Parts: sequence; structure tokens; C-alpha cells
Amino acid sequence: MSTKARKRKLNNTPLEEAEYFRTKSGVLYQGDAKTILRNLPENSVDCIIGSPPYFSMRDYGVEGQIGLESTVELYLDSICAVYDEARRVLKSTGSCWVNIGDLYVDKNLVLLPARLALAMQAQGWILRNDIIWRKTRCLPHPVKDRLTNTHEHVYHFVKAREYYYDLDSIRTPHAASSLTRIKSKITVSHKGRYGEDQGNRGRTIDALNETSAVHPKGRNPGDVFDACPSNAADGHLATYPEELIEPRIRSTCPLDGIVLDFWMGSGTTAIVAEKLQRQWLGIELNPDYCKIALKRLTKPLQPFLTG
Ligand SMILES: C[S@@+](CC[C@H](N)C(=O)[O-])C[C@H]1O[C@@H](n2cnc3c(N)ncnc32)[C@H](O)[C@@H]1O
Repeated sequence: MSTKARKRKLNNTPLEEAEYFRTKSGVLYQGDAKTILRNLPENSVDCIIGSPPYFSMRDYGVEGQIGLESTVELYLDSICAVYDEARRVLKSTGSCWVNIGDLYVDKNLVLLPARLALAMQAQGWILRNDIIWRKTRCLPHPVKDRLTNTHEHVYHFVKAREYYYDLDSIRTPHAASSLTRIKSKITVSHKGRYGEDQGNRGRTIDALNETSAVHPKGRNPGDVFDACPSNAADGHLATYPEELIEPRIRSTCPLDGIVLDFWMGSGTTAIVAEKLQRQWLGIELNPDYCKIALKRLTKPLQPFLTG
């Protein structure tokens, strides 16, 4: 195909032409994220989640590949342009989750996640959380003059101040010490952050109400998340763990909602959406990765791993 024809294809690939495969719950489009997003209706998806291509990544020889820009600034411009288009497609009650790690250039930490977050805020996104994904297993690194990097970020952006959020669906059990504390019948009332009436002392867990600091349905899981990085999925090296995104989809995509990942890679988001009985839409530029996603999605789905 000539350069001109390739450019034309990149700028206006109709949805039907871009369809790579579909399942009962979703469709994967093969093509450039921004181009395909332009063809999706506005206010149509509930939850966007994904991990953008790395800066300074390998050249796979795929036209339109993001990550090969000559500077960090140009790379961020490319990524932000895609998220700008995605904002139109996201419902006003929707959430957008971005997983991104940092890197060093000339021994200098780039602060790439922070720069992306600032750029997204400048575009009008509201940043609700910066979740630290603490990697519970990391490859040994030969570096001797700094600590190894063992975390990535998962940002939670929204379009509007009011949005769908089901915190109860991701609560975790209270620590034994919290339960012991509230069961110990200290009757003195205390005036704290939560107000005089909200001390939990002397009450059992069943008697606590939803405004209590110790919630009857469990603990707010907080913004640090431990998960073991995934092994490469059939040749895709940047696969994220299912456990990392499962609580995000559960809490911000209603059961009848649609999850969108326009950096679909090996199909992890689609797999998690299917396990959670959500509809999904995916976009991936590299046909080799579309093939991997298809292969993974046609295997029986495994239950979520824990620990
Ligand atoms: C970090 S990986 C995503 C991995 C995915 N979360 C998984 O678990 O397999 C980023 C993906 O973005 C894709 N990509 C790069 N440029 C793109 C573009 N312009 N449009 C769509 N996808 C693109 C890459 O091919 C790569 O598969």
C-alpha cells in the first residue's frame, strides 16, 4: 500500500472494516485508537480502562504506532489527543482509568505519570485517585546507585463531579484490630473527624451504619494495590494483571454497562469484562496482538487469581 493510501486508511477506517472479531459480549477493532474512537457515538461507554503504549518502545513496524515520538512532550501530546477523543465517547457518569509507569532518560526520572495526569487535568479531566500499583514480584535489576522501581500508577479520571461509583462492590474485610477496637465497649463519646455521633465505641459491627468510620460492609480498600505482574501473554510483553483492573471495572461500570479499552494489546480488559459480565469494546493497532487477544478470548475463562 502506498504511503498516501496508508494515511487515508489510518484517518478514516469505517467501523465495519476495522472489526477483527466479536464475541457475545464485545467487539475488537483493529486500527488506530483515535481514528476508531472518532467513529464511536458520544456518551456511549461507561468505563474506559487501559495502559498506553510505552514511550521509546520497540518499533513493530505498524503504521500509527504511538511510543516512537522523538520527545516525551510529543509522546504525551499523542496520548492526550487520544484521551481527548475518548472523553467524547465516555458517558458523563463514566470513569477513565489509566495505568502508566515511569522511566529514566539519561539517568533522570521522567515523572511521566505525573506529567500525563497534569496534561489530562489541563484538558478538563477531573482526577479522583492516583492508585499505586505495588508490584509484589519484580525482575532483579543491576542498578547500584538507586532503588529499583517497584510500582506503577493507575489514575482515575472522570468527566463530571457526579459519576457512577459502587464502593460497596470493592470493600475489603476490616482488620481484626479494628473489629476488636469497636467491640471493646468504651462508652466515652469522642469528637473526631467524623463528628461526635459517629464514634463506634460500644456498638457491634451489625449496629454500625453507613456513615460510620468503620463501615458495616467492609473497609475502603485505599489507594495502594498489591499485585503480581502478569507473565507475557502469548508473546505480548506488556500485559497487565487481571487483578489490577477487576476492582476498577466492578466499581465504575454498572452490570449493564460497557467497558472500552483502546490499547487492548493481548485482550486482558476484554477477559476481565467478560468474567464480570460487562459488555466491552476494544481497539488494538497491531494485528499480531489482535490475534493473541482472539486466542485468549476463545479459551475457557479462568477464575480470578488471588494473593
Ligand atoms: C501497554 S500495551 C497494552 C497491554 C494490555 N493492557 C494487555 O494487558 O495486553 C499498549 C498497546 O497499545 C497498542 N498501540 C500502540 N499504538 C496504538 C494506536 N495508535 N492505536 C491503538 N493501539 C495502539 C500497542 O500495540 C500495545 O499493544
